[in-house]
Amino acid sequence: MSIDERLANTNFPLPAIRQVNMAKHATGISLGLGELKGFEVDNKIKQAMTESWDDGAACYTQNAGLPQLRKEVADRQHHEDGCSYTVDNVIITIGVQNAVYSSIKTLAKLGAKRVLIPSIHFGIYKKIPAEFGLEVITYPLYDDFSIDLQSLESMLQKDDVMILNSPSNPTGRVYSDEELQALADLLKSKLTEGYVISDEIYGQLVYDGEDFHSFSKYFSRTIVVDGISKSGAVAGLRVGWVITQNEKLAKAIISNNATVISTPPTPNQWAAIPIVKGDTKETIKHYNKTLLENRNKVVSFLEKMNITYNAPRGSFYIFPKVSGILGDKVKEFCIQTAGEENGVVVIPGEAFGAPEYLRISLASFELEEGLIRLEKALKEWK
Ligand SMILES: Cc1ncc(COP(=O)(O)O)c(C=O)c1O
Repeated sequence: MSIDERLANTNFPLPAIRQVNMAKHATGISLGLGELKGFEVDNKIKQAMTESWDDGAACYTQNAGLPQLRKEVADRQHHEDGCSYTVDNVIITIGVQNAVYSSIKTLAKLGAKRVLIPSIHFGIYKKIPAEFGLEVITYPLYDDFSIDLQSLESMLQKDDVMILNSPSNPTGRVYSDEELQALADLLKSKLTEGYVISDEIYGQLVYDGEDFHSFSKYFSRTIVVDGISKSGAVAGLRVGWVITQNEKLAKAIISNNATVISTPPTPNQWAAIPIVKGDTKETIKHYNKTLLENRNKVVSFLEKMNITYNAPRGSFYIFPKVSGILGDKVKEFCIQTAGEENGVVVIPGEAFGAPEYLRISLASFELEEGLIRLEKALKEWK
């Protein structure tokens, strides 16, 4: 079969999240966004980007990224976990998606065979390993979205790659110190040759209770992936990073990413520095205040509607179980409601491997009106 014949017979679908967002009617409200759209961007970020033109912003950086940014990432991680890092432990990437991609690509080339991902997960965790022919296995979560450690233990092989995501998209679950310690105790005895990829992109967006802890503090065979998309409200700048205690592995990831992206955009790397240094902390505090207020509004709504949920503590999503109202038609409901005049966009749980749920974003300035529309749509659904 020729390329053109294959092309005619192959469907390369857009992710379900995009499909639903694209169905949005012009009069619709989106509670489906995965970014802090409309939240004020800290001036220090803009200033750093503007000033970068005097520092060679029009030129390439090294493949591994801007040394000044790599140094800030190394220092920040040291502050998190007490381990020692240099620029050689850090790779700057084009967003966290590219950080996950380059890590998995490298581990696949080094012989990894299986990737364990949470049963409720961000979509790329499944798709990227599949691109490299790796087997993807889901580990179960309890109803409160905590990890079922007994089941995980029974499925783990010593050279697996495990993906961890706390705070989570889509559940908003943030694992506590004890939970992370218990997981690390298990992994220290079972995952002696593999790695954990810990996606910490929402680490700064914890708005209720105990702070976030980086998993590298508990387990040394951790590859941390993180970035500025969410905590800086600058998803469009596309800056992320990988940091690992294993310098040789970092070097391998640099080499494997160089063929994909060459280097991340230089001005955007300069713009990331104030966020990583902690100079935008006050702005992040404001984001978290808004997210907590919004979380409480959605919780009241779900209580009123008698819908089962777990109150999230971090990220900016809530993931209620709506199969009691919508049966097995959650996706149909989301597509129809998005497309209606004066409709609302919410994301079907199917996009995250959990078709009984839907994801509501807390990052909206039209939340109250969005919830009124959602209530109407749920009540009218047949
Ligand atoms: C859990 C998680 N990881 C990674 C990403 C991708 O991040 P980036 O936009 O920095 O590539 C997202 C974006 O929604 C996410 O929710």
